[in-house]
Amino acid sequence: MRVGMLTSGGDCQSLNATMRGVAKTLYNLLHDDVEIIGFIEGYKGLIYSDYKIMKPKDFSGILTEGGTILGTSRQPFKLMRTPDANGLDKVKAMKDNYKRLGLDCLVVLGGNGSQKTSNLLREEGLNVIGLPKTIDNDLWGTDVTFGFQSAINLATQTIDCIHTTAASHGRVFIVEIMGHKVGWLTLHAGIAGGADIILLPEIPYDINKVADALKKREKEGKRFSIIAVAEGAISKEQAAMSKKEYKKYVEERPYPSVAYEVGDQVKKLTGQEVRVAVPGHMQRGGEPCPYDRVLSTRLGAAAGKMIVKGEFGYLVGMKNNEITKVPLEDVAGKLKMVSPDSSMVKEAKLLGISFGD
Ligand code: F6P
Repeated sequence: MRVGMLTSGGDCQSLNATMRGVAKTLYNLLHDDVEIIGFIEGYKGLIYSDYKIMKPKDFSGILTEGGTILGTSRQPFKLMRTPDANGLDKVKAMKDNYKRLGLDCLVVLGGNGSQKTSNLLREEGLNVIGLPKTIDNDLWGTDVTFGFQSAINLATQTIDCIHTTAASHGRVFIVEIMGHKVGWLTLHAGIAGGADIILLPEIPYDINKVADALKKREKEGKRFSIIAVAEGAISKEQAAMSKKEYKKYVEERPYPSVAYEVGDQVKKLTGQEVRVAVPGHMQRGGEPCPYDRVLSTRLGAAAGKMIVKGEFGYLVGMKNNEITKVPLEDVAGKLKMVSPDSSMVKEAKLLGISFGD
């Protein structure tokens, strides 16, 4: 059996642990009857035939290693049907390489965009298995994605560190947390880090309500406040804009990101001293936390078993702590967002955490 493997899109902490899970399972079940081909830098490697024949030793000692031993790149789904600068048909190239290498299946470790492409390849007749990677946790069809928990730990550590300095100086701190268009990471790290205000893309904020929450804390004698803001957080006015208007607004916004915009506004509205902290890509870095190592190992083992059984066309995910197989066509193109009515948001509100709504 020949199995292709690639890691696609933004990296995260548990990619290597997941590949190890798949590989160890395959070697354990098939011994010498399996060969794994690792494509370099995601779909780019499959398109341009850049690959490496992997050996069992390549998957040893990588359980705790962050990043990806194969490298990754962003190959936007919307450009997959557009020929490259030299007129190459990318989809045809991927199919040709898959066939030329005699692959029995392709394992794609990727998030939303990457799984759209894996579904496209499935539609084109390839045997594909998807594995849910992303710190954003926005993939449809799985309760949790690998990388998410490790990123929560790092984002929480950032808020913890900010807490002590905010308390010393009596300042308002805005911590901007990754998550693209969804607020999972901010919601979890915000609660874990004891943020006073949490701003999510799913719950557009009213800046006056944010300022009111800060003033209330000041009145209560609290010397500092922490706002956890998702990088995709939007105000009520911005939420009312069309997609085009909002894009233009962001392009012309005189701030590097939403945290600075919120910071400037609350400073004007409250007169409090404000600082902004943006941990950025460190949230994707370093080693996977134990939770992710276990999750990746389980997902990898399940994928390995499915490959041996010839079950293709699925994303391997987790529902209620059990492995689940979701057809790729059901996953492709759907975002899993935080529900403003979810019990987690309601519980946070019970504690007095403001969402600015
Ligand atoms: O999808 C993971 C993620 O880290 C998002 O949270 C973030 O919006 C984006 O990737 C950043 O992308 P890049 O690494 O291309 O700057």
